[in-house]
Amino acid sequence: MDPQLRSFVQSVLERERDLTIATLRPDGYPQANTVSYASDGLATYFGTGRDSQKVRNLQHCSKASIVVDCAYADWGSIKGLSMGGIATVLPDGCDDARRALEALRRKFPEVDELGPPPDPASIVVVKFVPSVISVLDYSKGFGHTDLVQVDAADGPRAHGAPMKSMRIIRDEHRALAAVLQGLLYLMRQSRDKGVPPNFPALSAMLYYIDAFPERFHHPKEDRYLFPLLRSRAPHMADVLDRLEEEHAAGAAKLRELSEAFVRYREGGPAELSTFAATLEAYASFHWSHMRTEETKVLPAAEQFLTAGDWDAVDAAFTGHTDPLLGEDPGAHWSKLFTRIVTLAPPPIGVGPERQDA
Ligand SMILES: [Fe+2]
Ligand SMILES: [Fe+2]
Repeated sequence: MDPQLRSFVQSVLERERDLTIATLRPDGYPQANTVSYASDGLATYFGTGRDSQKVRNLQHCSKASIVVDCAYADWGSIKGLSMGGIATVLPDGCDDARRALEALRRKFPEVDELGPPPDPASIVVVKFVPSVISVLDYSKGFGHTDLVQVDAADGPRAHGAPMKSMRIIRDEHRALAAVLQGLLYLMRQSRDKGVPPNFPALSAMLYYIDAFPERFHHPKEDRYLFPLLRSRAPHMADVLDRLEEEHAAGAAKLRELSEAFVRYREGGPAELSTFAATLEAYASFHWSHMRTEETKVLPAAEQFLTAGDWDAVDAAFTGHTDPLLGEDPGAHWSKLFTRIVTLAPPPIGVGPERQDA
Protein backbone atom coordinates (compact mmCIF):
# COMPACT_ATOMS: atom_id res chain seq x y z
CA MET A 1 0.00 0.00 0.00
CA ASP A 2 1.18 3.50 -0.76
CA PRO A 3 2.90 4.76 2.45
CA GLN A 4 1.04 8.08 2.42
CA LEU A 5 -2.33 6.37 2.10
CA ARG A 6 -1.40 3.92 4.83
CA SER A 7 -0.39 6.77 7.10
CA PHE A 8 -3.69 8.56 6.35
CA VAL A 9 -5.69 5.40 7.14
CA GLN A 10 -3.83 4.82 10.41
CA SER A 11 -4.23 8.44 11.50
CA VAL A 12 -8.00 8.25 10.91
CA LEU A 13 -8.22 4.98 12.82
CA GLU A 14 -6.22 6.38 15.74
CA ARG A 15 -8.17 9.65 15.92
CA GLU A 16 -11.75 8.43 15.58
CA ARG A 17 -13.58 6.55 18.33
CA ASP A 18 -16.47 4.70 16.71
CA LEU A 19 -16.91 2.46 13.71
CA THR A 20 -19.94 0.84 12.14
CA ILE A 21 -19.56 -2.83 11.32
CA ALA A 22 -21.78 -4.76 8.93
CA THR A 23 -22.03 -8.50 9.50
CA LEU A 24 -24.14 -11.12 7.78
CA ARG A 25 -27.01 -12.76 9.62
CA PRO A 26 -27.58 -16.48 8.98
CA ASP A 27 -30.93 -15.57 7.37
CA GLY A 28 -29.07 -13.46 4.77
CA TYR A 29 -29.89 -10.00 6.13
CA PRO A 30 -26.91 -7.67 6.64
CA GLN A 31 -26.72 -6.23 10.16
CA ALA A 32 -24.99 -2.93 11.04
CA ASN A 33 -23.81 -1.96 14.53
CA THR A 34 -21.80 0.96 15.80
CA VAL A 35 -19.10 0.18 18.35
CA SER A 36 -16.21 2.01 20.02
CA TYR A 37 -12.87 0.59 18.95
CA ALA A 38 -9.10 0.71 19.33
CA SER A 39 -6.62 0.14 16.52
CA ASP A 40 -3.17 -1.35 15.98
CA GLY A 41 -1.83 -0.50 12.54
CA LEU A 42 -4.63 -1.36 10.13
CA ALA A 43 -6.35 -3.77 12.51
CA THR A 44 -9.25 -2.66 14.71
CA TYR A 45 -10.58 -4.24 17.90
CA PHE A 46 -13.77 -3.91 19.88
CA GLY A 47 -15.39 -5.65 22.82
CA THR A 48 -18.94 -6.96 22.63
CA GLY A 49 -21.32 -9.38 24.29
CA ARG A 50 -20.47 -13.05 23.86
CA ASP A 51 -24.16 -13.76 23.14
CA SER A 52 -24.69 -10.77 20.86
CA GLN A 53 -26.21 -11.26 17.42
CA LYS A 54 -23.09 -9.85 15.70
CA VAL A 55 -20.92 -12.50 17.37
CA ARG A 56 -23.35 -15.19 16.20
CA ASN A 57 -23.20 -13.67 12.71
CA LEU A 58 -19.38 -13.73 12.70
CA GLN A 59 -19.32 -17.34 13.86
CA HIS A 60 -21.55 -18.10 10.87
CA CYS A 61 -19.54 -15.93 8.39
CA SER A 62 -16.39 -13.98 9.24
CA LYS A 63 -16.62 -11.64 6.25
CA ALA A 64 -17.44 -8.11 7.42
CA SER A 65 -17.29 -4.48 6.33
CA ILE A 66 -16.63 -1.46 8.49
CA VAL A 67 -17.04 2.28 8.06
CA VAL A 68 -15.23 4.99 10.00
CA ASP A 69 -16.71 8.49 9.57
CA CYS A 70 -14.87 11.72 10.39
CA ALA A 71 -16.76 14.81 11.57
CA TYR A 72 -16.63 17.54 8.91
CA ALA A 73 -17.38 21.25 8.64
CA ASP A 74 -18.18 21.34 4.93
CA TRP A 75 -18.41 18.91 2.03
CA GLY A 76 -14.99 19.89 0.77
CA SER A 77 -13.37 18.38 3.87
CA ILE A 78 -15.19 15.02 4.09
CA LYS A 79 -12.87 12.18 5.05
CA GLY A 80 -13.57 8.57 5.98
CA LEU A 81 -12.79 4.91 5.51
CA SER A 82 -14.80 2.00 4.20
CA MET A 83 -13.15 -1.42 4.52
CA GLY A 84 -13.90 -5.03 3.66
CA GLY A 85 -12.15 -7.85 5.46
CA ILE A 86 -12.37 -10.57 8.05
CA ALA A 87 -13.58 -10.16 11.63
CA THR A 88 -12.64 -12.88 14.08
CA VAL A 89 -13.83 -13.46 17.62
CA LEU A 90 -10.55 -13.82 19.52
CA PRO A 91 -10.08 -16.78 21.87
CA ASP A 92 -10.46 -15.81 25.53
CA GLY A 93 -7.26 -14.74 27.25
CA CYS A 94 -5.03 -14.93 24.15
CA ASP A 95 -2.19 -12.39 23.83
CA ASP A 96 -4.01 -10.54 21.08
CA ALA A 97 -7.17 -10.21 23.19
CA ARG A 98 -5.17 -8.96 26.18
CA ARG A 99 -3.37 -6.36 24.04
CA ALA A 100 -6.71 -5.30 22.55
CA LEU A 101 -8.27 -4.77 25.98
CA GLU A 102 -5.23 -2.72 27.08
CA ALA A 103 -5.46 -0.61 23.89
CA LEU A 104 -9.19 -0.06 24.50
CA ARG A 105 -8.51 0.98 28.09
CA ARG A 106 -5.80 3.44 26.96
CA LYS A 107 -8.10 4.95 24.33
CA PHE A 108 -11.14 5.06 26.60
CA PRO A 109 -9.81 5.66 30.15
CA GLU A 110 -13.28 6.71 31.27
CA VAL A 111 -14.26 3.03 31.09
CA ASP A 112 -12.36 2.41 34.35
CA GLU A 113 -14.59 4.93 36.14
CA LEU A 114 -17.59 2.76 35.34
CA GLY A 115 -16.08 -0.09 37.37
CA PRO A 116 -15.67 -3.70 36.27
CA PRO A 117 -18.41 -5.22 34.11
CA PRO A 118 -20.88 -7.33 36.10
CA ASP A 119 -19.71 -10.47 34.31
CA PRO A 120 -16.33 -10.12 32.49
CA ALA A 121 -16.80 -13.62 31.03
CA SER A 122 -19.75 -12.29 29.04
CA ILE A 123 -17.44 -10.07 26.94
CA VAL A 124 -15.44 -11.17 23.89
CA VAL A 125 -12.96 -9.22 21.75
CA VAL A 126 -13.45 -9.01 17.99
CA LYS A 127 -10.55 -8.23 15.66
CA PHE A 128 -11.18 -6.85 12.19
CA VAL A 129 -8.39 -7.08 9.58
CA PRO A 130 -9.04 -5.32 6.26
CA SER A 131 -8.24 -6.80 2.87
CA VAL A 132 -9.50 -3.83 0.84
CA ILE A 133 -9.91 -0.18 1.88
CA SER A 134 -11.79 2.64 0.20
CA VAL A 135 -10.19 5.87 1.40
CA LEU A 136 -12.44 8.94 1.15
CA ASP A 137 -10.62 12.28 1.08
CA TYR A 138 -12.65 15.08 -0.49
CA SER A 139 -9.86 17.57 0.22
CA LYS A 140 -8.23 16.03 -2.88
CA GLY A 141 -11.34 16.85 -4.92
CA PHE A 142 -15.07 16.40 -4.44
CA GLY A 143 -15.91 12.67 -4.33
CA HIS A 144 -12.25 11.60 -4.32
CA THR A 145 -11.68 8.02 -3.21
CA ASP A 146 -8.70 5.65 -3.45
CA LEU A 147 -9.38 1.93 -3.48
CA VAL A 148 -6.41 0.00 -2.09
CA GLN A 149 -5.69 -3.69 -1.55
CA VAL A 150 -3.98 -4.61 1.69
CA ASP A 151 -1.13 -7.04 1.04
CA ALA A 152 1.43 -9.04 2.98
CA ALA A 153 3.91 -6.19 2.95
CA ASP A 154 1.56 -3.91 4.90
CA GLY A 155 3.16 -3.72 8.26
CA PRO A 156 5.81 -5.65 10.10
CA ARG A 157 4.76 -8.36 12.51
CA ALA A 158 4.76 -6.31 15.63
CA HIS A 159 4.02 -9.00 18.20
CA GLY A 160 5.08 -12.52 18.98
CA ALA A 161 7.05 -15.09 17.08
CA PRO A 162 6.51 -15.00 13.34
CA MET A 163 3.76 -17.34 12.23
CA LYS A 164 3.87 -19.47 15.33
CA SER A 165 0.65 -21.08 14.18
CA MET A 166 2.40 -22.61 11.13
CA ARG A 167 4.66 -24.62 13.39
CA ILE A 168 1.71 -25.60 15.62
CA ILE A 169 -0.40 -26.76 12.66
CA ARG A 170 2.48 -28.87 11.32
CA ASP A 171 3.15 -30.31 14.80
CA GLU A 172 -0.53 -31.18 15.19
CA HIS A 173 -0.47 -32.94 11.81
CA ARG A 174 2.59 -34.93 12.90
CA ALA A 175 0.81 -35.94 16.12
CA LEU A 176 -2.31 -37.07 14.26
CA ALA A 177 -0.20 -38.97 11.72
CA ALA A 178 1.61 -40.74 14.57
CA VAL A 179 -1.68 -41.85 16.15
CA LEU A 180 -3.00 -43.08 12.78
CA GLN A 181 0.24 -45.04 12.29
CA GLY A 182 -0.23 -46.51 15.78
CA LEU A 183 -3.79 -47.62 15.00
CA LEU A 184 -2.71 -49.21 11.72
CA TYR A 185 0.24 -50.96 13.39
CA LEU A 186 -1.92 -52.52 16.12
CA MET A 187 -4.63 -53.54 13.66
CA ARG A 188 -2.07 -55.13 11.26
CA GLN A 189 -0.36 -56.98 14.10
CA SER A 190 -3.71 -58.67 14.84
CA ARG A 191 -4.79 -59.13 11.22
CA ASP A 192 -1.47 -60.29 9.76
CA LYS A 193 0.31 -61.88 12.73
CA GLY A 194 -2.54 -63.06 14.91
CA VAL A 195 -1.56 -60.90 17.90
CA PRO A 196 -4.54 -60.59 20.33
CA PRO A 197 -6.19 -57.18 19.95
CA ASN A 198 -5.13 -54.41 22.32
CA PHE A 199 -8.55 -52.83 22.75
CA PRO A 200 -7.56 -50.29 25.47
CA ALA A 201 -4.81 -48.81 23.26
CA LEU A 202 -7.03 -48.81 20.14
CA SER A 203 -9.81 -47.17 22.13
CA ALA A 204 -7.49 -44.43 23.54
CA MET A 205 -6.21 -43.67 20.02
CA LEU A 206 -9.73 -43.43 18.60
CA TYR A 207 -10.71 -41.14 21.45
CA TYR A 208 -7.68 -38.96 20.68
CA ILE A 209 -8.77 -38.55 17.05
CA ASP A 210 -12.28 -37.64 18.14
CA ALA A 211 -11.11 -35.18 20.79
CA PHE A 212 -8.25 -33.58 18.85
CA PRO A 213 -8.68 -33.10 15.08
CA GLU A 214 -12.46 -33.30 15.07
CA ARG A 215 -13.18 -30.94 17.94
CA PHE A 216 -10.07 -28.77 18.05
CA HIS A 217 -7.76 -28.66 15.00
CA HIS A 218 -10.22 -28.61 12.11
CA PRO A 219 -12.60 -26.05 13.67
CA LYS A 220 -9.69 -23.61 14.11
CA GLU A 221 -8.68 -24.06 10.48
CA ASP A 222 -12.32 -23.50 9.43
CA ARG A 223 -12.83 -20.49 11.63
CA TYR A 224 -9.52 -18.63 11.36
CA LEU A 225 -7.04 -19.82 8.73
CA PHE A 226 -9.33 -20.68 5.81
CA PRO A 227 -11.53 -17.52 5.77
CA LEU A 228 -8.47 -15.26 5.88
CA LEU A 229 -6.76 -17.17 3.08
CA ARG A 230 -10.00 -17.17 1.08
CA SER A 231 -10.14 -13.37 1.26
CA ARG A 232 -6.45 -12.90 0.38
CA ALA A 233 -6.11 -15.59 -2.28
CA PRO A 234 -9.43 -16.09 -4.12
CA HIS A 235 -7.74 -18.58 -6.47
CA MET A 236 -7.56 -20.98 -3.49
CA ALA A 237 -11.37 -21.18 -3.23
CA ASP A 238 -11.69 -24.64 -4.85
CA VAL A 239 -9.02 -26.17 -2.61
CA LEU A 240 -10.52 -24.59 0.52
CA ASP A 241 -14.04 -25.70 -0.46
CA ARG A 242 -12.79 -29.28 -0.73
CA LEU A 243 -10.94 -29.16 2.60
CA GLU A 244 -13.98 -27.71 4.38
CA GLU A 245 -16.14 -30.47 2.89
CA GLU A 246 -13.60 -33.00 4.17
CA HIS A 247 -13.74 -31.47 7.66
CA ALA A 248 -17.52 -31.89 7.59
CA ALA A 249 -17.26 -35.43 6.18
CA GLY A 250 -14.58 -36.39 8.73
CA ALA A 251 -17.09 -36.54 11.58
CA ALA A 252 -19.25 -39.10 9.74
CA LYS A 253 -16.18 -41.14 8.74
CA LEU A 254 -14.98 -41.21 12.35
CA ARG A 255 -18.44 -42.34 13.50
CA GLU A 256 -18.26 -45.16 10.97
CA LEU A 257 -14.80 -46.13 12.24
CA SER A 258 -15.93 -46.02 15.88
CA GLU A 259 -18.91 -48.25 15.07
CA ALA A 260 -16.62 -50.72 13.26
CA PHE A 261 -14.37 -50.72 16.32
CA VAL A 262 -17.26 -51.47 18.70
CA ARG A 263 -18.42 -54.34 16.44
CA TYR A 264 -14.84 -55.71 16.42
CA ARG A 265 -14.50 -55.42 20.20
CA GLU A 266 -17.90 -57.00 20.89
CA GLY A 267 -18.12 -59.36 17.92
CA GLY A 268 -14.59 -60.72 17.86
CA PRO A 269 -12.31 -61.75 14.97
CA ALA A 270 -15.21 -62.08 12.51
CA GLU A 271 -15.51 -58.28 12.55
CA LEU A 272 -11.77 -57.59 12.14
CA SER A 273 -11.75 -57.35 8.34
CA THR A 274 -14.45 -54.64 8.33
CA PHE A 275 -12.63 -52.69 11.04
CA ALA A 276 -9.35 -53.03 9.12
CA ALA A 277 -10.83 -51.81 5.83
CA THR A 278 -12.59 -48.88 7.52
CA LEU A 279 -9.40 -47.89 9.35
CA GLU A 280 -7.21 -48.10 6.20
CA ALA A 281 -9.71 -45.88 4.34
CA TYR A 282 -9.89 -43.43 7.24
CA ALA A 283 -6.09 -43.11 7.47
CA SER A 284 -5.75 -42.55 3.68
CA PHE A 285 -8.47 -39.93 3.83
CA HIS A 286 -6.63 -38.02 6.59
CA TRP A 287 -3.19 -38.30 5.00
CA SER A 288 -4.50 -36.94 1.72
CA HIS A 289 -6.24 -34.11 3.60
CA MET A 290 -3.11 -33.14 5.54
CA ARG A 291 -0.93 -33.42 2.43
CA THR A 292 -3.16 -30.90 0.62
CA GLU A 293 -2.97 -28.53 3.59
CA GLU A 294 0.81 -28.82 3.84
CA THR A 295 1.58 -28.60 0.13
CA LYS A 296 -1.07 -26.07 -0.96
CA VAL A 297 -2.70 -24.22 1.91
CA LEU A 298 0.24 -23.48 4.22
CA PRO A 299 2.55 -22.25 1.41
CA ALA A 300 -0.25 -20.02 0.06
CA ALA A 301 -0.93 -18.72 3.57
CA GLU A 302 2.74 -17.86 3.98
CA GLN A 303 2.65 -16.00 0.70
CA PHE A 304 -0.63 -14.10 0.95
CA LEU A 305 -1.61 -13.55 4.61
CA THR A 306 -0.73 -10.17 6.08
CA ALA A 307 0.94 -9.46 9.40
CA GLY A 308 -2.47 -8.69 10.93
CA ASP A 309 -3.90 -11.94 9.55
CA TRP A 310 -1.11 -13.95 11.15
CA ASP A 311 -1.69 -12.24 14.47
CA ALA A 312 -5.31 -13.48 14.38
CA VAL A 313 -4.35 -17.03 13.30
CA ASP A 314 -1.53 -17.18 15.85
CA ALA A 315 -3.92 -16.03 18.56
CA ALA A 316 -6.33 -18.84 17.69
CA PHE A 317 -3.74 -21.60 17.55
CA THR A 318 -1.76 -20.48 20.58
CA GLY A 319 -4.84 -19.69 22.70
CA HIS A 320 -4.51 -21.33 26.09
CA THR A 321 -8.17 -22.15 26.56
CA ASP A 322 -10.10 -24.44 24.31
CA PRO A 323 -13.80 -23.58 24.63
CA LEU A 324 -14.75 -27.15 23.76
CA LEU A 325 -12.50 -28.80 26.33
CA GLY A 326 -12.65 -26.09 28.98
CA GLU A 327 -9.03 -26.58 29.99
CA ASP A 328 -5.50 -25.98 28.78
CA PRO A 329 -5.42 -28.09 25.60
CA GLY A 330 -1.68 -28.66 25.98
CA ALA A 331 -2.27 -30.47 29.28
CA HIS A 332 -5.20 -32.39 27.80
CA TRP A 333 -3.19 -33.69 24.80
CA SER A 334 -0.19 -34.58 26.89
CA LYS A 335 -2.41 -36.63 29.27
CA LEU A 336 -3.95 -38.40 26.30
CA PHE A 337 -0.55 -39.07 24.72
CA THR A 338 0.75 -40.44 28.01
CA ARG A 339 -2.22 -42.79 28.15
CA ILE A 340 -1.68 -43.96 24.55
CA VAL A 341 2.05 -44.47 25.09
CA THR A 342 1.40 -46.37 28.32
CA LEU A 343 -1.18 -48.66 26.72
CA ALA A 344 0.48 -49.34 23.36
CA PRO A 345 3.25 -51.94 23.10
CA PRO A 346 6.64 -51.24 21.48
CA PRO A 347 7.44 -49.88 18.95
CA ILE A 348 4.42 -47.52 19.32
CA GLY A 349 4.54 -47.10 23.09
CA VAL A 350 5.89 -48.63 26.29
CA GLY A 351 2.90 -50.79 27.24
CA PRO A 352 3.13 -54.56 27.79
CA GLU A 353 3.97 -56.68 24.75
CA ARG A 354 1.24 -59.09 23.65
CA GLN A 355 2.05 -62.67 22.87
CA ASP A 356 1.40 -63.94 19.38
CA ALA A 357 -1.58 -66.27 19.26
FE1 LIG B 1 -7.80 -29.71 8.06
FE1 LIG C 1 -4.95 -29.47 9.36
